[in-house]
Amino acid sequence: MGSYQASFRVWRGDDESGALQDYTVEVNEGEVILDIIHRLQATQAPDLAVRWNCKAGKCGSCSAEINGRPRLMCMTRMSTFTEDEVITVTPMRTFPVIRDLVTDVSFNYEKAREIPSFAPPEGVAPGEYRMQQVDVERSQEFRKCIECFLCQNTCHVVRDHEENKKSFAGPRFLMRVAELDMHPLDAKDRQKAAQEEHGLGFCNITKCCTEVCPEGIHITDNALIPMKERVVDRKYDPVVWLGNKLFKR
Ligand code: SF4
Ligand code: F3S
Ligand code: FES
Repeated sequence: MGSYQASFRVWRGDDESGALQDYTVEVNEGEVILDIIHRLQATQAPDLAVRWNCKAGKCGSCSAEINGRPRLMCMTRMSTFTEDEVITVTPMRTFPVIRDLVTDVSFNYEKAREIPSFAPPEGVAPGEYRMQQVDVERSQEFRKCIECFLCQNTCHVVRDHEENKKSFAGPRFLMRVAELDMHPLDAKDRQKAAQEEHGLGFCNITKCCTEVCPEGIHITDNALIPMKERVVDRKYDPVVWLGNKLFKR
């Protein structure tokens, strides 16, 4: 494949109005969508707003929807499209647009703040924490999250229902609650909070969040479903929760 001219449709606008605009842009071998957006900025649309930082799939800034599919622009290769395909790039739909491809993701930071941080048991000082390797490893997968918020953008609970945003933390933050709940030294009641404050019950396990995660984290299977199971166990037997905590310590 040499260079060719690709047809792009890019959403331009702000929080009040906007529309798709057509562009023809040069594409070279090995390029990704973000390269093309940068070329557009450099040659035809200097005021095009786009958020990015690392261009290596690690900062989580360049999330957008490409042909309707939530993806990182820097990790989406042009070679996955045919040369005659029209490529549509739009901002994440679940969050308010600031301008062009840049959305206001502060919903996610608000949800993050609603989750109390790790709370060790009273009387155990830093340096005295002891836990088994198996418990350390269980949460490693969740730590790979780059906070791109593609899962938050995709989950239908908030994607089509603005009214649910108040009561639903979204997959990324329910995963955080699950991670803390699995922590043998965390002394807070995460299961009650997951149901009553973070909206775990809204999740009906559609797994769309897992499908779009660029880090390949098994959000649904390894965090949300086990969390739901623990909440159900707890519902039928409150001693189970206490027993689990004490037993794991
Ligand atoms: Fe992005 Fe995956 Fe983290 Fe969700 S869990 S914010 S999709 S990296
Ligand atoms: Fe939403 Fe993921 Fe549950 S997409 S419904 S949080 S499995
Ligand atoms: Fe950092 Fe794409 S620019 S993830």
